[in-house]
Amino acid sequence: MKIPFNKTYQTGDEEKFMLEAIRSGAICGNNQFCKKTIELMKQKYGFNEVFLVPSGTAALEMGAMLANISPGDEVILPSYTFSSTVNAVVIFGARPVFCEVDPVTMNMDPEKIEALITPKTKMLLPIDYAGLPCDIDKIMEIANRHNLIVMQDCAQSYGSVYKGKPCGTVPHIATFSFHETKNYSAGEGGALIVNVPEWVQRATFLQEKGTDRSLVINGMKNKYSWVDKGSSYLLSDCLAAMLYAQLLHEDEIRTKRAMLTEAYFDVFQKYHDRDVVGIFQPTAKQEINHHAFWVLFDTLEHRQEFMTKCKAKDVYAYIGYMPLHSSPYGLKLGYKPEDLPVTENIGNCIVRLPFYTGLADEGLEYTKGVMKQAMNEIYPL
Ligand SMILES: Cc1ncc(COP(=O)(O)O)c(C=O)c1O
Repeated sequence: MKIPFNKTYQTGDEEKFMLEAIRSGAICGNNQFCKKTIELMKQKYGFNEVFLVPSGTAALEMGAMLANISPGDEVILPSYTFSSTVNAVVIFGARPVFCEVDPVTMNMDPEKIEALITPKTKMLLPIDYAGLPCDIDKIMEIANRHNLIVMQDCAQSYGSVYKGKPCGTVPHIATFSFHETKNYSAGEGGALIVNVPEWVQRATFLQEKGTDRSLVINGMKNKYSWVDKGSSYLLSDCLAAMLYAQLLHEDEIRTKRAMLTEAYFDVFQKYHDRDVVGIFQPTAKQEINHHAFWVLFDTLEHRQEFMTKCKAKDVYAYIGYMPLHSSPYGLKLGYKPEDLPVTENIGNCIVRLPFYTGLADEGLEYTKGVMKQAMNEIYPL
């Protein structure tokens, strides 16, 4: 049996809704399925305003544009994240300031943020690694004290909750990804959440190539014109139809994915208790969306051994992110690997396990068996 790292899941409603979108004759952005999806998201999680965009990457770019990130600004973010997080500030000429992560949560360490703040700092840009919510209350408290904007990269945390508040509802701006690797997918897709009511109208201009077309659609103007910078940050209604199908089945998908989390805890918790590996330990404050599962090995050699043993049985685990500060572009910006030793060690020792909704239906027992055997061999009692 082959267990890939990721595989898309279909709920059964995708084709029906996509066909309906195509037959409607109106498939550009902000049509019927976009509207339905936005309504569903708002009703379920209480976001102030939702913009459906072509990807999580586009959401981050649109958010950075909305925050007026410009040359001379500094943005504090973890090095342990995807290139899209950092590119959103680099393409607008700002300097990324990388902050260490907490190796227990893999999220930006709130205790290390304040020392990095300078008069140039404009934004804090935390992520929710593997769907585990970052400490957004603490981050907002720091931001408010220093008059900074917070954009939370929730690419992996749609449906996660922190202290009773759904991810994406607390910061000024938040972004989601609906890429095929995510829990709910349109193939490619994303959303920008704007929680500052005064920023919402400008966001409609940025999304529509810098025009006030949204005012024409709402009957407030006869002709639209170029009023701001902007780009084409719209999700096609065809893809929104697919996303709508997935979000209608959110509970079913979450229940299946929760089975994977449970199975992996069953394999790895005892090694965590023996202190030979790290795995996340969600607290009572953090409700996870079951996006992913990682294991932090004690050495790079043990990580390699684990991956090799799994691969020999056709089970494909993955190494996770390469830290950004020590990547070729990070080095070009003047960073050195030793600047962030905790992050560097995580980059060397972490493994992401196969995690996709359909694994709950087929292959989970096999995967568990393969991993149990590998761990027994690497860490015999
Ligand atoms: C933390 C993070 N931010 C941003 C993105 C980019 O999302 P997308 O692939 O939808 O552009 C990803 C994708 O994996 C991600 O993990």
